[in-house]
Amino acid sequence: MSSLTHSPAWLALQSQQKIMAPLHLRDLFQKNPQRFNELSLQFDSILLDYSKQLIDHETVRLLINLANQQQLSNWITRMFSGDKINSTEHRAALHIALRGQSPVEIDGTNVMPEVERVLKQMEKLVSEVQNGQRVGYSGKTFTDIVNIGIGGSDLGPVMVTEALKPYRLPGITPHFISNIDGTQLADVLQHLDPASTLFVVASKTFTTLETITNACSARQWFLSKGGSEKDIAKHFVAVSTNRSAVENFGINPDNMFEFWDWVGGRYSLWSAIGLPIALAVGMDHFYELLAGAHEMDQHFATAPFDKNLPVMLALVGIWQVNFLGIAAHAILPYDQSMHRFPAYLQQLEMESNGKRVTRDGEVVDYATGAIVWGEPGTNGQHAFYQLLHQGTQAVSADFLAPCQSHHLIGLHHRMLLANFFAQTEALMTGKNTQEVRTELEAQGMDKEAIAQLLPHKIFPGNRFTTSILFKKLDPRTLGALIALYEHKVFVQSVIWNINPFDQWGVELGKQLAGKILSELEQNIPVVLHDASTNGLINFFKTNQ
Ligand code: F6P
Repeated sequence: MSSLTHSPAWLALQSQQKIMAPLHLRDLFQKNPQRFNELSLQFDSILLDYSKQLIDHETVRLLINLANQQQLSNWITRMFSGDKINSTEHRAALHIALRGQSPVEIDGTNVMPEVERVLKQMEKLVSEVQNGQRVGYSGKTFTDIVNIGIGGSDLGPVMVTEALKPYRLPGITPHFISNIDGTQLADVLQHLDPASTLFVVASKTFTTLETITNACSARQWFLSKGGSEKDIAKHFVAVSTNRSAVENFGINPDNMFEFWDWVGGRYSLWSAIGLPIALAVGMDHFYELLAGAHEMDQHFATAPFDKNLPVMLALVGIWQVNFLGIAAHAILPYDQSMHRFPAYLQQLEMESNGKRVTRDGEVVDYATGAIVWGEPGTNGQHAFYQLLHQGTQAVSADFLAPCQSHHLIGLHHRMLLANFFAQTEALMTGKNTQEVRTELEAQGMDKEAIAQLLPHKIFPGNRFTTSILFKKLDPRTLGALIALYEHKVFVQSVIWNINPFDQWGVELGKQLAGKILSELEQNIPVVLHDASTNGLINFFKTNQ
């Protein structure tokens, strides 16, 4: 047993689980009409309601004891002061500096002047593209931005530009190419005019196979459609930490927007990786996004744990994963413009906390990161909610929605929110045998038919959800929401004693793919893998 699972705080929570597990949320709400007031929090215009979790004051107290036992305050201080808490890569994790005003030092150097320098460089490009000072090779203004990147160099910018569509500047359309599958490249490029297209090649390392391959193919397309070698400087900019690789690729360093090794890929949308966001919505809105995140940072660093949104969101997750045994977690935004939010959080949560060893390299004997997925409501209701209501696999869910819509069309927004409230209520209360029987009798159904149908119509309820409501999805609120989840992930990593800022688990597949690619180029059957892999590769070779 690890020291965590036999620690006093952990054992106390295990005992608490035995008390809570037999309870039903419906009864807890009946017994305590103040449950919502007592188990919900507000920060600015964001409301976090965790009263539909199988939790009570004692559970919250014990979870906070666990956070204290794991020295959460100390870890927060370490992160905010630029300590190299990413121990396997010997790096700080200072994304908070990208959106903050106070000086932060790494190895005695204040990083803020560099952060500000790159922000000014972004401002310059954005305004030059906007006011037509910077144009394409034939003098056309830029109408299309193509971001080429993957993972953290793609998901954040895509998610934010989609979520902030109502704030987009006229005349500029952002596009994204991430997949090595040429289908995406072909789909995006087929509608574009090279003379008015600006490419942003975004890669922290500038070695990622997908990004470099897509960037080379985009360059080829550009040259084959009328652009010349000397025009590349006008049409290709790079965002990276790797200056020499950018130069080797043929992008002028003057067109490089730098960021730093202390910004993790999945925490990088606040850096120059956010360039497509700034080009799409303007620098003022990009600054608003940063300001919203900064406000959440300040709240996270200063609020007491029981009033702290990221801390409570994280602790509710710990309760679910480690004590209620719920491994699956759905992200359900009731806002179509947040349709990439689940995919964004999937990387944030699963690449950060999908770890099997502690910071010291010991194999854990407790569950870590949840399995995260999701879809916007109400679409998901007509796809997988059946399993949420009546399936045998336990799933927890975060429901998110704005109170105000950007699109006031008839009753749409009220209908959307009616579904949000109905689903969270239905998942919590369910419908018991007596209620189903009464309903069927009222419909005039005979006894035999009722007996047959009744078990199928029962909803056990007691399915746990957290609701996050906010006034409006504006840049500031979106910034705060993203930071809320970033800090949630950090808090959970502290409880689990794992490093959330590395991602060694992505390496093995990459290594093998490189080896297999060279085998695919040879015209002979492969025999050196296991039988299945040999069989699959050889089937591909004969059928390609
Ligand atoms: O493969 C995982 C990963 O390293 C992510 O962590 C990262 O966001 C993505 O690849 C892209 O990396 P880069 O920005 O260096 O191209």
